Amino acid sequence: MYLPSFRLDGKKAIVTGAGRGIGRALASALAEAGADVAILSRTVSDLEETAEIIHNHGKQSLIIPTDVTKREDASRAVKMVKEEWGSIDILINNAGMNIRSKALDVTDEEWETIMNTNLKSAFMMAQETGKLMKDQETGGRIISVTSVAGHVALRTGVVYAASKAALIQMTKVLALEWGKYNINVNAIGPWYFKTPLTEKLLADPSYVKDILDVTPLKRIGELPELAGPAVFLASDAGSYVHGQTLFVDGGMTIQGF
Ligand SMILES: NC(=O)c1ccc[n+]([C@@H]2O[C@H](COP(=O)([O-])OP(=O)(O)OC[C@H]3O[C@@H](n4cnc5c(N)ncnc54)[C@H](OP(=O)(O)O)[C@@H]3O)[C@@H](O)[C@H]2O)c1
Repeated sequence: MYLPSFRLDGKKAIVTGAGRGIGRALASALAEAGADVAILSRTVSDLEETAEIIHNHGKQSLIIPTDVTKREDASRAVKMVKEEWGSIDILINNAGMNIRSKALDVTDEEWETIMNTNLKSAFMMAQETGKLMKDQETGGRIISVTSVAGHVALRTGVVYAASKAALIQMTKVLALEWGKYNINVNAIGPWYFKTPLTEKLLADPSYVKDILDVTPLKRIGELPELAGPAVFLASDAGSYVHGQTLFVDGGMTIQGF
């Protein structure tokens, strides 16, 4: 009786940063659950590979080359999806990056690149999509991919941490403002998952040991373990979850020491 509420049949979704890693896994999961998915990033060849996965699930894709740090790109992408599919039910703000400089070495340019990619892009995409969702009877779902680094202090760099912490707070305030439009706004906060962003770090056994020492489940996450929570938040099964960040972290953030 409850399982159908996890399905996304007929839904139209946008996933940013869908060319590889977590974004590709989430786009694939939404398609498997029944959604058509518009996929955004700057590298078309990556998006073509993701599109094939979506088609293998029997769903449609829209490849939209987009630099999400640019307002005109964000606006054009949302307009294209609306024109092609008539509605946008789900937005996943996943595009992100990091430059791991120590605080005293951070340049203004690094600050702007990280903040624009991880935070400003998510706000612009939410704003552009929110304008449409507000006028849809069915409302919509906005899910941003933050990080454990936005919640506890880690050695991942101060700018990345600040951008991801701001995403958590952005999620709460958008939820406050847009709940009345039937737009659910939530975030997921991953701990370590193996993707092109992290594969070099995770190739170092001593780095992995440090991670596992503070991970109660004693293993690195597998991408399907992140896809399930994202589908839940995008589906009717998650309809009363609002303004929350769901940490998908093997228990990392529960510790008090
Ligand atoms: N992997 C982890 O363990 C982990 C943990 C916590 C949080 N996260 C977060 O999860 C998200 C995805 O991470 P990932 O590990 O999958 O990273 P990834 O493998 O490096 O993939 C990042 C994706 O974002 C896209 N992207 C980056 N800048 C963009 C821009 N300006 N415009 C459009 N697309 C852009 C990239 O495509 P192009 O470069 O081709 O544009 C790529 O498709 C990020 O927000 C990251 O902070 C990851």
